[in-house]
Amino acid sequence: MRGRYSLGWAHCANKGQTFRPTGGGNFSQITIDSESGNSLDFHTIMVDLSNGLGALRGNVVQGDFDAALKSYQVVRERFTMMELACTACHDEPREYFVDSRVKGRLLRIGGFLRKGSQDVDLYTQELNNINEVSCMPCHQVHMPAAFLQQYWESSKN
Ligand code: HEC
Ligand code: HEC
Repeated sequence: MRGRYSLGWAHCANKGQTFRPTGGGNFSQITIDSESGNSLDFHTIMVDLSNGLGALRGNVVQGDFDAALKSYQVVRERFTMMELACTACHDEPREYFVDSRVKGRLLRIGGFLRKGSQDVDLYTQELNNINEVSCMPCHQVHMPAAFLQQYWESSKN
């Protein structure tokens, strides 16, 4: 399976070390159960994360903290689900894009919300940071693989 991915290990921080994908995992086949018990596919988790983070900021701008807390809880839950998805392909998932640095950013947002902070810049800073240390670099590493998988799949039909 590995030979099919165009991204080389040169892109990886710990080149040649333990964080190699195992097995034949495929993003389009991953589903994870939410706390409420419904099963979501990886793409839905992504869309919920993106929408949830956008909604959270919008709620804060509007001063609607009840709604912001709800958005925050959705984001926390989806983030955990995303983290579980790593194990479909990696043995040691708790590094990089979902590690404690990233989760610390999320927890800080929770802290601002609980304090009722209306300083939108504070939230924006953490949101940008999450994007820079989690979403963007993970997309850079995995999106080509995901799209290649889709291509291989569609070319089979
Ligand atoms: C595993 C690493 C990984 C992380 C971390 C990650 N993503 Fe993704 N994301 C992917 C992959 C792979 C795809 C393409 C496959 C798919 O859409 O299911 C994707 C697709 C998406 C899409 C759909 C894009 C489209 O054009 O359909 C959105 C939106 C998205 N991610 C948002 C986010 C946000 C917001 C974050 C950060 C909070 C994030 N992702 C973190 C791997 C990741
Ligand atoms: C569907 C399978 C799949 C899933 C799910 C997946 N990965 Fe990957 N990941 C890969 C593949 C394949 C590569 C290698 C790409 C290459 O060879 O260039 C990779 C590469 C990586 C790398 C870079 C290699 C390195 O050693 O530095 C990191 C870091 C990484 N993944 C972390 C994660 C994390 C964190 C998650 C969960 C949020 C995740 N991956 C989910 C398949 C997956």
